[in-house]
Amino acid sequence: MNKTELLEVLRAWNPWARELDTGVPRSRHLARLMGFLKSRQVVTITGPRRAGKSFLMRQAVTELQKEGVNKNNILFVNLEDSRFARLDVRLLSQIYDTYLEFLAPEGEIFVFLDEAQEIVGWERWVRTMHELQKAKIVVSGSNAKLLSDELGTLLTGRHLDLAVYPLSFEEFLAFNKIELKSQMDIVDKRIEIQRRLRQYMENGGFPEVVLADRDQKEILLNHFDDLVRKDILQRFRIRKQQELKDLIRFYVSNIGTLTTYGSMEKYLKVTRGTIERFSGYLEQAFLFFFLKRFSFRVKVQEKDPRKVYAVDTGLSNVVGFRFSENVGRSAENVIFLELKRRQALNPELELFYWKDVHHREVDFVVKEGLKVSQLIQVCWNVQDFKTKERELRSLKKAMGELDCRNAVIVTEEYEGDETLNGNTVRYVPLWKWLLARKADDQGKVH
Ligand SMILES: Nc1ncnc2c1ncn2[C@@H]1O[C@H](COP(=O)(O)OP(=O)(O)O)[C@@H](O)[C@H]1O
Ligand SMILES: [Mg+2]
Repeated sequence: MNKTELLEVLRAWNPWARELDTGVPRSRHLARLMGFLKSRQVVTITGPRRAGKSFLMRQAVTELQKEGVNKNNILFVNLEDSRFARLDVRLLSQIYDTYLEFLAPEGEIFVFLDEAQEIVGWERWVRTMHELQKAKIVVSGSNAKLLSDELGTLLTGRHLDLAVYPLSFEEFLAFNKIELKSQMDIVDKRIEIQRRLRQYMENGGFPEVVLADRDQKEILLNHFDDLVRKDILQRFRIRKQQELKDLIRFYVSNIGTLTTYGSMEKYLKVTRGTIERFSGYLEQAFLFFFLKRFSFRVKVQEKDPRKVYAVDTGLSNVVGFRFSENVGRSAENVIFLELKRRQALNPELELFYWKDVHHREVDFVVKEGLKVSQLIQVCWNVQDFKTKERELRSLKKAMGELDCRNAVIVTEEYEGDETLNGNTVRYVPLWKWLLARKADDQGKVH
């Protein structure tokens, strides 16, 4: 590509000649990203395809300009632009040199590399730019292993990560123009919030789906195909496509249940090695997450059954999860995703499930540092007294064994307290639990 051609591609994605489409602000993420940009580190943004990484980067570009950065000091490179013919590290240098020559920026430069994993060895280029302090760099990718094993160490200790998942319930409400400014607002809009929760559980939180007023299922199917094709089949050059599809279907039908490779091998008639390898790819592409059993011994955790959760409940519903028959499971998935978001903000957090030899189970164990900080049981139908008894017994046992006094039972509507072994167990409706972080923030503001 010659310089004129390069410049033409770059012009389409940069703020030099026109305003960028930035969509609905995701203020929490943006504030965090802007904070990271004040540090000396490289910033990496990872998350599933279509979760909104590129939009967030564009929001940062616009925010920088608001803060007084000259638009010519910003270089945004969309590495998925099909007009870039030869994707290797030399392309990055060529782009950068052309940019310097034509835009002649003075002072600090900000470089955004969108979908960096398209370029093998991008880490080396970024490392050099960073070391020579030529630019502040933000890199995004739709793969959890954005930093390759081989070159990732080049950036060890030199980068800050931001995870972008589909919208949280709070963001989902904001995208639907339901602003919750105070605790009072939350109480006033309770009915509307509950109605919206059902929609959130059914269609999920991908921004494009949330903003669409029709054809949500088609959009979701399209997201699914795109993710599987680009981030799994092509990236890992998979030939056994049918096996991969069967595996995805298996996981979707087993959200929140315990699975072992051994039992899957028999059921799917695929070798254990393939199942393990493919599961790793699904995890890297952020399609599924796997939750391990809590144990004080690390070794045991490795071979215990794992629980699987999807990156988005809307996505699993179009792929074959039976929503109307499994609302409780969907609720569990939504809780898991919210815990993942909280974990992204607090690297000290670790998530597990708990199970003892008597098959007593607790859905989520939240560990913070060395301590178990919260136990969460999902009990969608509290009216069913037997369920409640069983759930309570499990919680009681786990509270003792893990020395944790903070236990929550998340319900559809029921709210209240119950004393267990002299400790209080709280029943919290899902919508309230999901918005609790919001309430925390407000506590700090006032
Ligand atoms: N903040 C936002 N406001 C409005 N629409 C958004 C926003 N973020 C994402 N979208 C929608 O979702 C689509 C995918 O977002 P994008 O940023 O391209 O995802 P990613 O870069 O993570 O693959 C966009 O084309 C847009 O339709
Ligand atoms: Mg993108």
